[in-house]
Amino acid sequence: MTTISTPGASLDVLLTPQDLRAALESDARAGLTATPKWLPPKYFYDDRGSRLFEEITRLPEYYPTRTEHAILSAYADDIAAAAGAEVLLELGSGSSQKTRLLLDAMARRAELAAYVPVDVSAGALRDAMAALRADYPHLPLLGAVADFDRHLGALPAPGRRLWVLLGSTIGNYPTAERRTFLSGLADAMRPGEALLLGVDLVKDPERLVAAYDDAAGVTAAFNRNVIAVLDRELDGDLDPEDFVHVALWDAENEWIEMRLRASRPVSGRLAALDLPVELARDEEIRTEISAKFRRERIEPELAEVGLTVERWWTDPMADFGLLLARR
Ligand code: SAH
Ligand code: TRP
Repeated sequence: MTTISTPGASLDVLLTPQDLRAALESDARAGLTATPKWLPPKYFYDDRGSRLFEEITRLPEYYPTRTEHAILSAYADDIAAAAGAEVLLELGSGSSQKTRLLLDAMARRAELAAYVPVDVSAGALRDAMAALRADYPHLPLLGAVADFDRHLGALPAPGRRLWVLLGSTIGNYPTAERRTFLSGLADAMRPGEALLLGVDLVKDPERLVAAYDDAAGVTAAFNRNVIAVLDRELDGDLDPEDFVHVALWDAENEWIEMRLRASRPVSGRLAALDLPVELARDEEIRTEISAKFRRERIEPELAEVGLTVERWWTDPMADFGLLLARR
């Protein structure tokens, strides 16, 4: 592993661009030769994808970010007191914007020893760390470019940690994969460490669909960006504009499903894989799900891996939940 150090900050590179590319190669080959076709979500977040996601968080239809922000504003001191941790470790930290509310609350208790942001997107992580460095000049920053499907056991532990996963990122796993992730997470946590988990809650399907199919087309651009990632990384000739963004509410699974639908027959190739990519008109690639939760459903899933829910915070409309669970 490489560590890049500057005064007051270090960056562990557990995942190199070569590793990420190798994973993309095998996932793209598996997903694009399957029926139906699929692509895994972590490849959305190249530099452009991370910027588009930040734009999504500011859309009028996309309520999760501002609601989670409001819950954190109201309860950050309460959360910090309940967590009783010296280190804030955040998985999928992105811009680390909302996290500042927690950092401030932990600092007010004079407990905060370090912040450990972890993200697969090296660009987003560097930008976030530079901004934090300017605004929190005395806070040790120990970043990690890592894949939380692979590297949970190797993350920095400079003290008792509060593990944080915001933005309902947990909802981007289908049920079986979510169980695998949670069990790996519980294994990586030390006894007594806590998890703060942000979960988007089941609500009116119309509001849910609008949040994933906004009028300005930003989510559509974000979804189609994964085609541009394939072209760039795997020397492909697919045209993102041949694909239409689709967001559907699956009432049985209680998740939003995102797809890319071919608006005409597509006949392309990923040269780096020597892989033809053919789609009939209206054929779809499944790109992402965003599961919605109920307290009764997530608590037993956490209990099953040895995480006990101690606290639960929500907004007045019960649109979004933040829970604290202990290992
Ligand atoms: N926490 C922020 C960002 C959420 S978007 C918020 O709440 O707004 C999801 C973030 O997780 C992105 O920054 C993405 O790069 C990162 N991510 C997605 N899959 C990941 C993985 N497998 N390992 C590490 N980070 C991942
Ligand atoms: N974790 C976010 C969510 O499920 C990620 C997200 C928001 C997303 N909008 C998206 C993922 C659109 C793919 C496509 O809300």
